[in-house]
Amino acid sequence: MQDNLTLSIIKPDAVARHITGKINEMIEGAGFSIVAQKLIRITKEQAQRFYDVHKDKPFYDDLCNYISSGAVVVQVLKKENAIADYRKLMGATNPEKAEEGTIRKKYAISIDQNSVHGSDAEDTARREISFFFSETELVGC
Ligand code: CDP
Ligand code: MG
Repeated sequence: MQDNLTLSIIKPDAVARHITGKINEMIEGAGFSIVAQKLIRITKEQAQRFYDVHKDKPFYDDLCNYISSGAVVVQVLKKENAIADYRKLMGATNPEKAEEGTIRKKYAISIDQNSVHGSDAEDTARREISFFFSETELVGC
């Protein structure tokens, strides 16, 4: 797996507001292929493992509660330079600092309820994709 695959999560605030389709339109409009996608509920225990890298941060508990609070869409996006390009399309973590034309600028509610997750490096993308998907589930092209 190389830098052409990244893990995206459409977070509970966005799924609850029924803007999954609008976000996917932005993703596909920016040239990404959605090669795997499923609607799931992340358990608290899974959230704690997924966000383990943030366990010493003050927002860790709230983040784990939030991401397990409702349905999310987990998806694998494919594109040349997918990891960096999806970070760019998402925009800054804090939507107040996100650039025009980004998903977070357009749809995020706040720094915590910021609508989308994207992997931040090749090793994390590999780990995050395999956290939710088996190789056989990457069916798109
Ligand atoms: O998601 P991103 O990679 O941009 O940010 P992060 O630093 O990896 O933080 C992960 C997630 O924790 C963010 O997307 C927010 O949902 C949440 N967070 C928060 O609630 N408060 C902060 N000060 C920073 C992050
Ligand atoms: Mg991050």
